Amino acid sequence: MSSFWSIWVIAIFAITVVGVCWVLFANRRIELDEPLKDDEPRKTGHVSDGIEEYDNPLPAWWFNMFVITVVFSVIYVLLYPGLGNFPGFLGWTSTGQWQQQEAEADQRFAQLAARFEDLTIEELSLHPEAVKIGARLFGNNCAVCHGSDGGGAYGFPDLTDKDWLYGGSPEAIETSIRNGRRGAMPAWSGIIDDGQINQVTEYLFKLSGRDHVAGEAAAGEKVYATYCAACHGVDGGGNQALGAPDLSDAVWLYGRSPELIKASIRSGRQGVMPAQGEMLHAGKIRFLTAYVYGLSRQ
Ligand code: HEC
Ligand code: HEC
Repeated sequence: MSSFWSIWVIAIFAITVVGVCWVLFANRRIELDEPLKDDEPRKTGHVSDGIEEYDNPLPAWWFNMFVITVVFSVIYVLLYPGLGNFPGFLGWTSTGQWQQQEAEADQRFAQLAARFEDLTIEELSLHPEAVKIGARLFGNNCAVCHGSDGGGAYGFPDLTDKDWLYGGSPEAIETSIRNGRRGAMPAWSGIIDDGQINQVTEYLFKLSGRDHVAGEAAAGEKVYATYCAACHGVDGGGNQALGAPDLSDAVWLYGRSPELIKASIRSGRQGVMPAQGEMLHAGKIRFLTAYVYGLSRQ
């Protein structure tokens, strides 16, 4: 807030408080022109339909409530932020409170994690309590993309099968989670023509044991060897160092229909797994690694 607006806010607050006090105290009694006779009630002089308004003070408890709220508001803005740029004598901020709660939660988690320190990822993945912790972390951080059961969806890999883009060892899984992953499948339209895209698609059908047109597939094999084998492997088995999927199995990240496969080839694919290293400290990544590792065991 610029100092102009800060002063503006402070001035409005001060004027309001002074104004409220003035209304409260100045109007308690109306000055009478003539002194009252004994036992004559004080009147305001307002008459309506023959009914005269008495000048009785507000009940004391009511008046005091007003005073208390005014005093409360002044104490409040002195302690907490509210008066323009003045931070308040307590120094409280919502960010500070959030950070403190975050730090407390992290500390509680570190105490919990310490009990599992000596276990390997394999052992952790078999420990019922650790699996429960992993499942909860997975639900909060991963389920949006990979599904609450880890079963994946279009473009988001199934983590419960034995088909890995980047490898299913504890180390590979941890690297995927900590550093994230970026699939980079180039777009081939413009490099190979539609006929060649059809041919190579038929060849992929042949590789994965599906019905295919033999002549087209034979031509597609040459296209494959020229443009695709470098990443997907000579036999279509994939390359985990590049995250290039196995094209000879029945698992398709982006769908198994001819149209979707051709779309993958024509336009390329760029799957992004966001890095979690900064968001979740190491203790949490261990539980997640063990949980994901355990998912594919069944
Ligand atoms: C924003 C969506 C998103 C979130 C959130 C996300 N992932 Fe992923 N994850 C992906 C995508 C997309 C891929 C595949 C990347 C590719 O296509 O190369 C992936 C890949 C992976 C892989 C590698 C799979 C393989 O076959 O090698 C693992 C392991 C993984 N994620 C675990 C996790 C865990 C654990 C979490 C939670 C901490 C998580 N992911 C959160 C989108 C996400
Ligand atoms: C530079 C390496 C590279 C080359 C060359 C390459 N690909 Fe890919 N391909 C990938 C990667 C990496 C992915 C995974 C993308 C992702 O995870 O988002 C992929 C994904 C695919 C998919 C989707 C698989 C699925 O499970 O849905 C198909 C189909 C495919 N490639 C076919 C081909 C064909 C056909 C060629 C040759 C014309 C080719 N690729 C050349 C790296 C490559």
